Amino acid sequence: MAAERGIPQSIVDEIKNRNDIVAVVEQYVRLSKRSAANLFGLCPFHSENTPSFSVAPEKQIYYCFGCHKGGDVIHFIMDIEKVGYLDALRLLADRAGVHIPEPEDAGYRKRAERETLLYKINAAAAAHFYLNLTESPKGKAASAYLARRGITGGTIRKFGLGFAADDWEDLWKRLRNKGFDAEVLSGSGLFRQGRDGPYDLFRNRIMFPIFDALGRVVAFGGRVMDDSQPKYINSPESAVYTKGRHLYALNFAKKSKEGSLIIVEGYMDAIAMHQAGVENAVAALGTALTTSQAQLARRYTENVIVGFDADASGQEAALRSLDILVSKGCHVTVLQIPDGKDPDEYIRRNGADRFHDLVKRALPLMDYKLLSVERKSTRDGDLDILDYQDVACKVLAAEPNPIIRELYAAKVADKLGVPSEAVVREIERRRKGVEQAAGQGTLRDRLAQRQTGEPQEPAKPFPEDPLFLLCLIASSPELADRMRISPEPEDFPEGVIRDMAVAVLARDERAGAGLSGLIGLAGDADWHGRRIADEAARMSFEIDAMGDLSAIEEAANSYLSRVRKDRLVARKAAIVAWIAAGGEGADKMEMKEELLDIDVQLRQFRG
Ligand code: GTP
Ligand code: MN
Repeated sequence: MAAERGIPQSIVDEIKNRNDIVAVVEQYVRLSKRSAANLFGLCPFHSENTPSFSVAPEKQIYYCFGCHKGGDVIHFIMDIEKVGYLDALRLLADRAGVHIPEPEDAGYRKRAERETLLYKINAAAAAHFYLNLTESPKGKAASAYLARRGITGGTIRKFGLGFAADDWEDLWKRLRNKGFDAEVLSGSGLFRQGRDGPYDLFRNRIMFPIFDALGRVVAFGGRVMDDSQPKYINSPESAVYTKGRHLYALNFAKKSKEGSLIIVEGYMDAIAMHQAGVENAVAALGTALTTSQAQLARRYTENVIVGFDADASGQEAALRSLDILVSKGCHVTVLQIPDGKDPDEYIRRNGADRFHDLVKRALPLMDYKLLSVERKSTRDGDLDILDYQDVACKVLAAEPNPIIRELYAAKVADKLGVPSEAVVREIERRRKGVEQAAGQGTLRDRLAQRQTGEPQEPAKPFPEDPLFLLCLIASSPELADRMRISPEPEDFPEGVIRDMAVAVLARDERAGAGLSGLIGLAGDADWHGRRIADEAARMSFEIDAMGDLSAIEEAANSYLSRVRKDRLVARKAAIVAWIAAGGEGADKMEMKEELLDIDVQLRQFRG
């Protein structure tokens, strides 16, 4: 939680107190409708015509009934600015004039100062390259090159494209003249150390500033204007740039309301797409996507379309990247660009409209995988059936969803000319191994099942989720006192929800801020915690809508009874097993006492 991430909880509380959620949201959304307790507006996270985005001023939380995003004011900033927890806190602290104390240690402060300087140096370098390209005679050939590739002046400005002069000291002299310290400049990655002192790394190249999600220049890529090698060079890593941590153009794409990201390989692809109006394009800037890039994408959206070059190495990279994205919780489809073109070339030859059609026809992941298998097993136009059945069944066996397995088994069977059951049997045989390796379903899976399975049926008033009970208690703490069994943290599953339960049940002041406090405790570092925050926000609006809670109290009571009973029975079994295994010593007395106690408690359930 926040304290572990380096910012004292009291400061987090202060930041939340000073940033009223309504005022913050209204900087982005017009809240035009109101009900008794809530305000409504058009959701900034998905396209809609009638307002389903709601804000509860009393609880200081928001929730969209359309796209199910929700949380406290910090989550809102994370969602809308596409930043992490710490950056969201900093933005809100700035907004409200709250000072976040720097950790006392001098090394930390020095590092922070250095980072600030590096951002300034990168920004100054980008400005210099840009002026070289657009204003200086030096940039003539580079301008002509970009024009030849169809890049407009507006695009050059938007992406801050530039030109590094054909000169060993052009940038060095410029930045030294601006007063930057030689030692700090040397650590910026823009220069190399030669025998006679530092010299410019980028010479005679078209320059692409690489922005982070907040729009700060963290590094550069430079492209030659002919066929010489290497085609691109990139800044080395520095205090503000780690390779494989950024997605090029995300600072623009995060503003798109498309509800998805299209990840392509190259600078020029992302730029051409934006120019053609495909504003959710980002580039990975390497062959395969890294896990931190996948995580970054997931922070923005669940829906990722991968558009890697269709050459052989591109397909391999795409396959690896797909699995990485899936492992981070993304729903993935794959762009099929005909004739081995990259997106940039395709758009130039066929126009934006045809490209939009390709995006619409992106292949679901399993289709793409099976198509790749088919291509690989095809030699001289003939499908090698033995090879194909083997690899296709392997791919299908790895798919966790039984419906998808069944659906695609039929397609594979069709291709092989065998009955569908034969393929299903083979897949299930191979799955035995897979299932043993995999763990249990996550909370998210269960929530998803619940959502799709039965949309809030009144016949079953108490959702079987401990989170719901927790939200109920947080919204009316007296309920915990009234319940037949008083809830304990151990009644809630370990992890984020248990942490929340500890705070709520202890009436910890953090949770004392009500639901907003509870939701703040859900944690934000990963999408699992984020998902819980979304769910908690949804549930609390649901609880609100119920008005009178007495109807649900009985359900809550019986739910908790069941959980407690299961827990006692499990504990009893563990103790009995321990004693049977010959457990001895002072512990044994304690265990026996606990056993008696458990029996007393269990008897109450029978009564
Ligand atoms: P254009 O050839 O200008 O259309 O660029 P591209 O983006 O289509 O290039 P390509 O598909 O060959 O490569 C995709 C991405 O990989 C590039 O945008 C670069 O980020 C990276 N890349 C390509 N070639 C090199 C190289 O020689 N060195 C490095 N470091 N990166 C490269
Ligand atoms: Mn290209």
